[in-house]
Amino acid sequence: MHPRSTRGQHRARHRCSRVQRAGPQWVLDLFAGSGNTLYWIAKRVGAQRGIGFELDDAVFELARKNISLMGLKIDLVHEGYEVGLRALNVPDDQLVILFVAPPWGQALKETSGLDLRRTTPPVSDVIDLTTAALARNQLLFGIQVHETVNPESLAEISARFESSKLTIYDINAPGQNHGLLLGTWGWTA
Ligand SMILES: C[S@@+](CC[C@H](N)C(=O)[O-])C[C@H]1O[C@@H](n2cnc3c(N)ncnc32)[C@H](O)[C@@H]1O
Repeated sequence: MHPRSTRGQHRARHRCSRVQRAGPQWVLDLFAGSGNTLYWIAKRVGAQRGIGFELDDAVFELARKNISLMGLKIDLVHEGYEVGLRALNVPDDQLVILFVAPPWGQALKETSGLDLRRTTPPVSDVIDLTTAALARNQLLFGIQVHETVNPESLAEISARFESSKLTIYDINAPGQNHGLLLGTWGWTA
């Protein structure tokens, strides 16, 4: 849990009660790739809107074709997440669910695991830019991690949230599993 002032705790509690009353959510995948994760999260929560940002031309075109062939109700935007977020017009106080899985590149090392400070872009930059762009909303982040994750980099991210929870899955062989860090911003779980 992220320590807050008494005033902050009041604000968080107030926001929490509003989250519980909130209607259908918006779901954003800031690094949409295939759009697969976005589709399943939006379907699972019964989202009002599902929007993904994808920068790469070839990935965007392929995902766009697949989404349209399958008639999926998600909007894929051919923009970097930085530009895409600023252009959104999310209703105030809407709960926004955000999936964050930027390219890992050199951030994943066999010996030390995933360093969230070394993804492209760093996860902390993504969180800070998102919270600035959607400052009037309650946010629920889902950040993809590896089963071995650098503890300092994890602490740096968790400190940005009012509450957080890490789950590591054991679906694959040891060493090949992913996990999910959930974090609330603007409310507490
Ligand atoms: C790990 S993949 C995401 C996988 C995706 N969540 C899925 O369900 O398939 C990362 C994607 O982010 C894209 N990307 C990289 N930088 C980006 C940026 N600044 N804004 C939006 N997309 C970006 C890459 O082209 C790549 O397709």
